[in-house]
Amino acid sequence: MRSESEVPFADASFSIPVAERLTRLPPYLFGKINKLKYEKRVAGVDVIDLGMGNPTDAPDPLIQQKLAEALQDPRNHRYSVSSGIGNLRKEVAKRYFKKYGVHLDPDSQVIATIGSKEGFSHMCLALMGPGDAAIVPSPTFPIHTYAVVLASGSVIALDVRDPEKFLKNVAYTCEHLYPKPKVVIVNFPHNPSATVVEADFYVDLVALAKRYGFLVISDFAYADICFDGYKAPSFLAAPGALDVGVEFTTMSKGYSMAGWRIGFCCGNSEMVRALGTIKGYYDYGIFQAIQIAAIVAIRHCDAAVESLAAEYQQRRDVLCEGLSRLGWNLKRPRAGMFVWAEIPEPWKKMGSIDFAMKLLDEGGVAVSPGRGFSEDGEGCLRLAIVENSHRLRQAVREIGRCTKVSTSVTE
Ligand SMILES: Cc1ncc(COP(=O)(O)O)c(C=O)c1O
Repeated sequence: MRSESEVPFADASFSIPVAERLTRLPPYLFGKINKLKYEKRVAGVDVIDLGMGNPTDAPDPLIQQKLAEALQDPRNHRYSVSSGIGNLRKEVAKRYFKKYGVHLDPDSQVIATIGSKEGFSHMCLALMGPGDAAIVPSPTFPIHTYAVVLASGSVIALDVRDPEKFLKNVAYTCEHLYPKPKVVIVNFPHNPSATVVEADFYVDLVALAKRYGFLVISDFAYADICFDGYKAPSFLAAPGALDVGVEFTTMSKGYSMAGWRIGFCCGNSEMVRALGTIKGYYDYGIFQAIQIAAIVAIRHCDAAVESLAAEYQQRRDVLCEGLSRLGWNLKRPRAGMFVWAEIPEPWKKMGSIDFAMKLLDEGGVAVSPGRGFSEDGEGCLRLAIVENSHRLRQAVREIGRCTKVSTSVTE
């Protein structure tokens, strides 16, 4: 299994003259952990993997049936269109209206992407080049930073864990930096910190975008996984948002279709067209049978999405209650697929990478060290609630067992 934390070609050092942009990528911080995880698995250890936001549940049977049916039609095996088939774009526009009251023109304001990560990366390439700066969330889901780096832009990392402060820092940066940031990237519910916002946040962000002339890219990957009655607001629902930005959504999380690679970029028509132009050169679109199954998913599977969110909520409770009983300091997330927890004393001084190694080595529990999401993430761990409740209870027991003897901490 791979995800943002398991890059197969992660070693960025080369003996051939690769492009300069590759040399700008940092050393791979998850490498040591992934190697150990692999070794454990080869040795037959049943690793409880909370390291990645990679769903373990299958998509609703209706979606799978539609895919099987679409496979029978030879026309679906041809190249598709890179922007996505019309009926799919229409369905996405309808869903935005139904869920968020946002009117979108499916032809100019909606484009399908090969997962939102592909779309996001190419959007950065379409908008940014040398001399352009982007404000990115910190701690950072790696591609939010490295898509900007790969597009030759420069990165201004701002902590997002206090959204009000983040907005103030955006304004301060725009007032004091020259040239001003061209793009502001936001991601709420946030990976990794699970920070969420209310609709007002986006009203303020749009006002700043208009005042300072930046573009907004909202990564709304966890739109469908909300708990306790919280409803994650869409950036596009803020008045004027369509003038200044786009939003990425995905079928990977709420529909458990991560391996299918299908997502969407919606919003400002010029930005959508810029992405479409790049994609028109780079790809021929998503396998059409998948696009057809995705139409059925969006049209008919609201109940499945809701029940999956309820399942994640239950897992969140199991993990948060278990870790709290062990004395860990954490906030219950209101959305998303992650618990972001402070490493308890006396283990904190070990550093998040070594502590995560310890949990894996001694407890067989894989988690992501906060340091892997930038220096701002140090002192924390990210635990993905992708395993079932039974396995999560087991994970808590193992974590408890291997952190019991506090006097044996080594630095
Ligand atoms: C914040 C965020 N954005 C995007 C993605 C990637 O989604 P997709 O599968 O649509 O490429 C992830 C996956 O973990 C994510 O956490």
